[in-house]
Amino acid sequence: MSLSLLFTTVFKHFTEGPPVKSWSLKFHLAVAMIKYNINIWILPNEKQIEEPVKTPPNIIIKEVILDEQYRQKSILHLEKVLKKYEDVLDEKWKEPKDRIYGEWVYMKEEEESENNEMDKVVLHLHGGAYCIGSAKFSRNFTFEYAKHAKARVFSTDYRLAPQNQFPASLCDSVAAYLYLINPESDAGFKPINPKRIVIMGESAGGGLTLATLLFLRDAGLPLPGGAVVLSPWVDLTHSMPSFWDPEFKKVDIIGERINIRPSTPLADEFIANTKTLSDKIAQKKPNIVGHPSFTEVPRVQLYCANEALAIPYVSPMLAESLGDLPPILCQTGGLERLRDEAILFSHKAAHPHEYQVPSYATKNFEKSPFKNPTKVILEVYDDMPHVWHMYLFSKPSQVAIERCGDFIKRVTSIEDNNTSIIDLTKEDVVSPSISISPSFIAMRVSVDGENKELNETDRDCLKWDKIGIVPKEVI
Ligand SMILES: *[C@@H]1O[C@H](CO)[C@@H](O)[C@H](O)[C@H]1NC(C)=O
Ligand SMILES: *[C@@H]1O[C@H](CO)[C@@H](O)[C@H](O)[C@H]1NC(C)=O
Ligand SMILES: *[C@@H]1O[C@H](CO)[C@@H](O)[C@H](O)[C@H]1NC(C)=O
Ligand SMILES: *[C@@H]1O[C@H](CO)[C@@H](O)[C@H](O)[C@H]1NC(C)=O
Repeated sequence: MSLSLLFTTVFKHFTEGPPVKSWSLKFHLAVAMIKYNINIWILPNEKQIEEPVKTPPNIIIKEVILDEQYRQKSILHLEKVLKKYEDVLDEKWKEPKDRIYGEWVYMKEEEESENNEMDKVVLHLHGGAYCIGSAKFSRNFTFEYAKHAKARVFSTDYRLAPQNQFPASLCDSVAAYLYLINPESDAGFKPINPKRIVIMGESAGGGLTLATLLFLRDAGLPLPGGAVVLSPWVDLTHSMPSFWDPEFKKVDIIGERINIRPSTPLADEFIANTKTLSDKIAQKKPNIVGHPSFTEVPRVQLYCANEALAIPYVSPMLAESLGDLPPILCQTGGLERLRDEAILFSHKAAHPHEYQVPSYATKNFEKSPFKNPTKVILEVYDDMPHVWHMYLFSKPSQVAIERCGDFIKRVTSIEDNNTSIIDLTKEDVVSPSISISPSFIAMRVSVDGENKELNETDRDCLKWDKIGIVPKEVI
């Protein structure tokens, strides 16, 4: 970025002041910097070459290249479960060109202490719209998770779009999970009890976390102890009202899409691949769930064909049922464009019978073997933009990350692997004014960390009549 442009941007934000009353000037400038950087995100992305975050002396990092056997096992599971979608998928996901990089991140003093609590593992999936990011560039997050959850964090890379289309990402996240529960003998750790694993991610990493959870459920694989998703992206149709709210657009950091710089090898490759895939789809005339609006617009995402948008492992919010999943903590910002999808996702998971939307995706709900409520804690943070956790100096970031740590400790501390005994109402942060059900606690969290009830504004999206319909605005 040019220095004068940067200066102009910062100066403009400095003189205009924060757009939200509760934001400090520091918070405002930090958000403005991220927003500026994201708005010029164009692939290929030079920012990836930047230095990763410095490692503090009390953190240990161990780098790992996963043996290819895990991806091969994962491919076998995916082939079975994704068979009904194969007509709309780019087959190249089965021919990985690289190996999976992952890294262990944990606190030195935990390892050294007598009664270390590190018997739990966080499998971390980074954010970046499925197109950018990596385990190394997410260390600001993983250091915090290791500290607050007193856990070993295993943060893994996964193949990114547009070079790799869905389900390459899912294939790799499942491979990393298989590695944790069944490592080879010289991996340096014993098989981890699935119930001691919490899968966790921010933004697209949150979406991939929930996709992985759904996939493990549907494939009949052992489920982890829980999941934590921060500002998860779960609706790739961009159908929810908050995504298009002009007020949120002003405040939130994310734009509508990531672009590819034209006339580059990446652009040429993408165009060629897109054409091959759409020719294949046209020829197969697939009959998978979706809405006519999907094919009335040009390609919406770099990640998959429009015909694939409603696959539950692409848009978990659109799954026919989100029941029978491990306990989930879902945190979203009150002023973020992805807010409504997180709210609807949480309601659908906690009350599968009540929220059978969109109708086209849930027409098979009655036949779904997964209809029991999933335990969910939904937290909507007042005034917060997308993944505010990254502003570590701010109170709402500290509150949110602390609650992630508490949740991870709680769901992994049960004795007999029986997650159904986890009682959400024991959550000490829940004040008596919050109405709770055995499967669901939903609350607003103020900038000071006080809990309140969700209000009508939050619940409006549950009545939205265009859930899972691609809006014309996406063009
Ligand atoms: C990580 O955090 C440090 C200190 O809070 C900050 O200076 C740095 O910019 C952050 N890096 C990234 C990649 O966010
Ligand atoms: C819990 O599950 C793990 C892994 O499947 C197993 O090793 C352990 O014995 C189980 N614990 C109990 C109390 O059933
Ligand atoms: C798990 O706990 C619940 C509630 O206490 C109980 O009803 C259920 O039978 C238990 N399941 C197993 C497999 O032990
Ligand atoms: C709901 O709460 C948010 C945040 O406090 C507020 O901005 C909004 O106006 C409230 N809506 C209603 C209907 O009270």
